[in-house]
Amino acid sequence: MKYLVTGGAGFIGSAVIRHIILNTDCQVVNVDKLTYAGHLESLRDVSSEPRYFFEEVDICDEDKMHQVFRCHQPDRVLHLAAESHVDRSIDGPKNFIETNIVGTYRLLEVARRYWMEMSRERRNCFRFLHVSTDEVFGDLGNVKARFSEETRYAPSSPYAASKAGADHLVRAWRRTFGLPVIVTNCSNNYGPYHFPEKMIPLMILNALEGKPLPLYGNGLQVRDWLYVEDHARALCKVIEHGMVGETYNVGGCCEKTNAEVVRALCNLLDELQPREKSYHTLITHVADRPGHDQRYAIDPGKISRELGWEPMESFETGLRKTVIWFLNNLSWCRQVQAHNYQRTRLGTTGREVA
Ligand code: NAD
Ligand code: DAU
Repeated sequence: MKYLVTGGAGFIGSAVIRHIILNTDCQVVNVDKLTYAGHLESLRDVSSEPRYFFEEVDICDEDKMHQVFRCHQPDRVLHLAAESHVDRSIDGPKNFIETNIVGTYRLLEVARRYWMEMSRERRNCFRFLHVSTDEVFGDLGNVKARFSEETRYAPSSPYAASKAGADHLVRAWRRTFGLPVIVTNCSNNYGPYHFPEKMIPLMILNALEGKPLPLYGNGLQVRDWLYVEDHARALCKVIEHGMVGETYNVGGCCEKTNAEVVRALCNLLDELQPREKSYHTLITHVADRPGHDQRYAIDPGKISRELGWEPMESFETGLRKTVIWFLNNLSWCRQVQAHNYQRTRLGTTGREVA
């Protein structure tokens, strides 16, 4: 069995590759363009394994992607490659449209051609899993409802809209061409190798440097947090046992306000790496993200009932593991920070970027 993982040098993709290599006998081809968010250092635990292959390719490059499929002959495609940071999509949406929509379209076409040329036996086993987000459903506001697989799409940010566009393409390729696709929509992930522009790692690293911890707006926005290794297990379960053509929502049933998350991080750091003044004194409210969704929450009932998936990590255990991982891996942080990833401030958000 051979998996082709797009975006495997990113946060979640690298967790998926580590999970497959460390827990199965399967082979993995990592296809990644190595944008500012892609780092091969995140795969150091598995990259010397002979079952692991790396191809530095842009998913928008159809010719090179054809060659990759022809050369590696994958049985499974796990599509994670994307521009993933909401704030960047507000500063400049172009790359999001190119990779998330056009790139997904090109990948679908390459996969379709490859799938049609497979033997009937291999064609019946082929699967294409598109990894999407809860952000496509938009803002729940303060209503106590949760997102189900039937929730109407209402994306708010350019990032969310680009992911919604990709989801529609993937489902159309199923209905029109019969490509055996499955879609997952997951909530906010956190854990090791999380790129330090996202809230949790940014707060940890700012705190350690004694910098302000910038909470957007009133800090009362709610996100539903899932430990990244639980997401990796969910994706492997879905691609192996999920029904073709179906969608599965993945989430940790763990709703927290951003202020609660930052306070929990400060408590852990006060315990694990005490400084003279508590880290809580660094919490600073800054201008809000434009179009900021108030609340997301996933109902993961379907994946739990039908595939028996449950998160193994609670927020308390997962967050502690995460803080300890960052404290022990500051060299990884320095390496990825050394790449020039700072956003250019174009004045759309007006926020100080850490
Ligand atoms: P990430 O930004 O950490 O990683 C993205 C990876 O894709 C990087 O390695 C990057 O180099 C690669 N990439 C970008 N453009 C590419 C292109 N054109 N061709 C090839 N490779 C390219 O993202 P992540 O947080 O790991 O998210 C992975 C996927 O999961 C995304 O599709 C995202 O929408 C989805 N998702 C993320 C979360 C989350 O909380 N992070 C939650 C739900 C869904
Ligand atoms: O919901 C799933 C999504 O989660 C994924 O699809 C995205 O790829 C991923 O980036 C993530 O998006 P968010 O916008 O929710 O993640 P981020 O870490 O950027 O922000 C989390 C919350 O924290 C959000 O409400 C904005 C807030 N925030 C963020 C940053 C970076 C702050 O208050 N301060 C910050 O400095």
